[in-house]
Amino acid sequence: MGKTFALFNMSGGVGKSTLTQNLGYHLATDHDLKVLLIDVDPQASLTTFMGYPPLEYEQTIADSLLDASSPLALESRTEWCNLAPANIFLSQCEIELHSKIQRELCLRRVLDKVKDEYDAVLVDCPPSLGQLSINCISGVDFLIIPIQTECKSLEATLTLLQTTHEITQQVNPDLRVLGVAPTMYNKQYRQHQEAMDTIQSVFQELRANELFAHTSIYDPIPRSTHFGDASKAHQPLAVFKPKHPALEQLRAIADNMISQIKVPVGAAANG
Ligand SMILES: Nc1ncnc2c1ncn2[C@@H]1O[C@H](COP(=O)(O)OP(=O)(O)O)[C@@H](O)[C@H]1O
Ligand SMILES: [Mg+2]
Repeated sequence: MGKTFALFNMSGGVGKSTLTQNLGYHLATDHDLKVLLIDVDPQASLTTFMGYPPLEYEQTIADSLLDASSPLALESRTEWCNLAPANIFLSQCEIELHSKIQRELCLRRVLDKVKDEYDAVLVDCPPSLGQLSINCISGVDFLIIPIQTECKSLEATLTLLQTTHEITQQVNPDLRVLGVAPTMYNKQYRQHQEAMDTIQSVFQELRANELFAHTSIYDPIPRSTHFGDASKAHQPLAVFKPKHPALEQLRAIADNMISQIKVPVGAAANG
C-alpha cells in the first residue's frame, strides 16, 4: 500500500509546491516508484509548475472531495507521475465542505481509494488553515513541513505546530511529522543560521510528543533563483539543472521518505 505525505505549512511562499514537484520527481526517477501528486491549493501552483493550465480542467480534486463516488480526475501526460490537478474552483469546494458530515475526512476517503495504485502520494497543501488544510492533515500518514529560515516564519511555525497537534489528536492520531525542510537558506546571513538553531532546539523539545518523536531536521535547501526558473520551465530542478548543488538536499529528503515507503511488512513504521 502506498504511503501518503503532505507538504504542509499554513504560510505561503515557503516552498511547498516546489518541494512537492521535486521530491515526487526524485522518488519516481531515482527510486523507480509509482508517484501521484495531488494539488489541494485553489491557487494551483503545483498544477501550473507541472505545465498544465489549471482552468482547462472541468474535473479536479474538488469533485472527488465533495462526492466520494466521483473518481479522482488525473492528468497523466507527465512521464514520471500522475497529477490530480486543482484550480480556483477548489475555493468554492472549501466552502461547501463545511456542510458535509465528517468534513475533515473527505480527502482521506479519496486517498483510501487510490493509494494502493501508487508507492507514494504527495499532497500539496494550501497556504491557510481552513477546511482543505485540515483535510490534508487528517488524511495522510506523514507531514513534511517546509520552513523558511527567517525569524518571522518561525513564530508562525510554532502556532502551526500547536494547531497540528490539536487537530491530529482528534482525527488522525497515527500521523507523524516525518521531517522539517528548512528552505531558502543563505548561509551568509546570520539570521538564517540563527533560524536553523531555533528549529533544532524547538524540535528537540517536541520529541517527547509522539507526533514529533522521529522528526528529522533536513539539511537546509539553499535559496536559488534556479528553483523558480525550473518551475517556469515546467521542470523539476534535476531536469532543468542536472548538476545543481541543491539536488543533494532534495535527494536526501527523498531518501528519508523511502525509509518509510519501503518498510518491511510487520515492522514498525516509525522506529
Ligand atoms: N529554495 C528556493 N530558493 C529560492 N526560491 C525558491 C526556493 N524554493 C521555492 N522558491 C520560489 O519561491 C516561490 C514560492 O514557492 P512555492 O513552492 O510556490 O511555495 P508555497 O507552495 O509554499 O507557496 C516560488 O516562486 C518558487 O519558485
Ligand atoms: Mg503552493
